[in-house]
Amino acid sequence: MKKNSITVSDEVLCLLHCPICKTRFTNCTKYITCERNHTFDFSKSGYLNLLKKNKKDIYDKALFNARKQIIEKGFFEGIEQLISNTILKRCPSSERISILDMGCGEGTIFSNILGALKQKGLPYNAIGIDNSKEGIMSASRSDMSVLWLVSDIAKVPITDRSMDIILNTLSPANYNEFNRLLKSDGMIIKTVPNKEYLIELRQATHLNEYSNKEVVSLFSENTLNYKSVRVNYQKKMSDKERSLVFKMTPLTQKIDFKEQESSLSNIATVDVTVLMGEKKPLHL
Ligand SMILES: C[S@@+](CC[C@H](N)C(=O)[O-])C[C@H]1O[C@@H](n2cnc3c(N)ncnc32)[C@H](O)[C@@H]1O
Ligand SMILES: [Zn+2]
Repeated sequence: MKKNSITVSDEVLCLLHCPICKTRFTNCTKYITCERNHTFDFSKSGYLNLLKKNKKDIYDKALFNARKQIIEKGFFEGIEQLISNTILKRCPSSERISILDMGCGEGTIFSNILGALKQKGLPYNAIGIDNSKEGIMSASRSDMSVLWLVSDIAKVPITDRSMDIILNTLSPANYNEFNRLLKSDGMIIKTVPNKEYLIELRQATHLNEYSNKEVVSLFSENTLNYKSVRVNYQKKMSDKERSLVFKMTPLTQKIDFKEQESSLSNIATVDVTVLMGEKKPLHL
């Protein structure tokens, strides 16, 4: 897949359908157009905006910038390794897989996972979806091996039963869409925070304790053969990294960094559960 020029491989284009009329896209130069002539332009950096309205929310440019910088420094490498190893174990390297990240944000975690698959020779078609234009814009500037889409995870412009793997990392889920999009032997890999995730920051800013109980039980109800693995480690941070961690999370959106700076720890705990489950057949 090569963008800017702009071409998306036929294989990836075949995975999409028009978000308005659900027919296939047929053309691809600087735009794609469906069988009923609904047209969507590629941006300069090569992403597609398939949302009519852009939302305004807590995930802004500053948050994504901080997130990108700290993730590039390996903040989530324990999670990325576990996910890429899980995919490599499940998928034989001779077959190209289709992999979708739902709520990919600025895309660095997804890109790092794909980098590990590439290194091991596993070919893939990759699509990253987020409803934040800022996030997708940033993602598309750094990784051109992925088709980045501004879209809502509740209404994904991708054909039924087309995905081998769906990733859903620290983002909201939509199991109707996940199940519609997965092939019959497809798998969802969802990462959820645990109670100790960024606990130093939570305590310093007097945030309530977090429980993932409901999120985990929803996952187990909506998947088959569900497994979970806890990933827990601590990172020692420089002052600069400490400020990046503060700014990369929506937890601190209403809190002033300068006011809190002296009470913030130079240790950050990453504590998550990686949930893995297979597609649940409709009649179960
Ligand atoms: C905490 S961020 C995680 C981003 C990325 N997976 C990561 O871990 O760096 C949550 C993301 O979910 C996205 N999001 C929330 N609701 C969404 C929806 N309905 N459709 C698509 N993306 C959504 C947000 O825009 C945000 O980028
Ligand atoms: Zn259409």
